[in-house]
Amino acid sequence: MNDVSNIVILTGAGVSAESGIDTFRDAGGLWEKHRIEDVATPEAFARDPDLVLRFYDMRREAIQTKEPNDAHHALGKLEREWLGSLTIVTQNVDDLHERGGAQNVIHMHGGHLTAWCLACDGRPEWRGPLIDRPACPLCGSKGTLRPDVVWFGEMPYRMDEISAALNRADLFVSIGTSGAVYPAAGFVREARMLGIRTLELNLEPSEGSHYFDETRHGPATALVPAWVEEMLSAP
Ligand code: APR
Repeated sequence: MNDVSNIVILTGAGVSAESGIDTFRDAGGLWEKHRIEDVATPEAFARDPDLVLRFYDMRREAIQTKEPNDAHHALGKLEREWLGSLTIVTQNVDDLHERGGAQNVIHMHGGHLTAWCLACDGRPEWRGPLIDRPACPLCGSKGTLRPDVVWFGEMPYRMDEISAALNRADLFVSIGTSGAVYPAAGFVREARMLGIRTLELNLEPSEGSHYFDETRHGPATALVPAWVEEMLSAP
């Protein structure tokens, strides 16, 4: 790996699983308990805003009780010590990468700890519930705050930045994602077309494993720190 200088990392729910945050598609995962079309689409929000707001209020409260794990801390260390460029793109809406020390994380599916005001388009930091329709702290409008999470059918955030990072990368690493949801699931193919080396670190083969040059299977808290040490000690 000593000819690598620019790295793009994509993470998914598997990197936060050992912090106690449910993944979506594993046994007992979130989508076994809630139908996506009931809680994670704009139509669901229009149809039953209270159900959707309560769902995200629960998730927002839960993640604030969780701690980053060794994988988050290892990626924070890599960001601090890597001499080339490192872009961490996450599908996760928790803040465990940041609390693990990473500072420049692209949250392509948004985040639980900001709200989105549909009146002023502002995105204030938000840690409490939204069910009581609090006023927007930026413009004062009431009842106009929604979760700042990208729902199915909506456009992920900062795709231009992600594409630019991929276009200058030498290595693409996917960590803890099933490869089930686009556009994130397509990044590995984009990387291959660009001639970029690809590595998957996942508990088990994902839907896209066959696209990767190398796959390593196991828990993120074992695989990620070992890989980071390998990268930082490469000549
Ligand atoms: N270590 C590493 N990988 C793990 C671990 C672990 N401890 N536990 C689970 N995994 C892997 C699973 O094998 C699976 O491949 O993490 C992946 C989790 O997949 P999903 O639950 O589908 O989560 P994710 O890939 O992040 O989902 C993508 O789908 O529902 C939408 O917006 C939501 O961002 C989410 C997107």
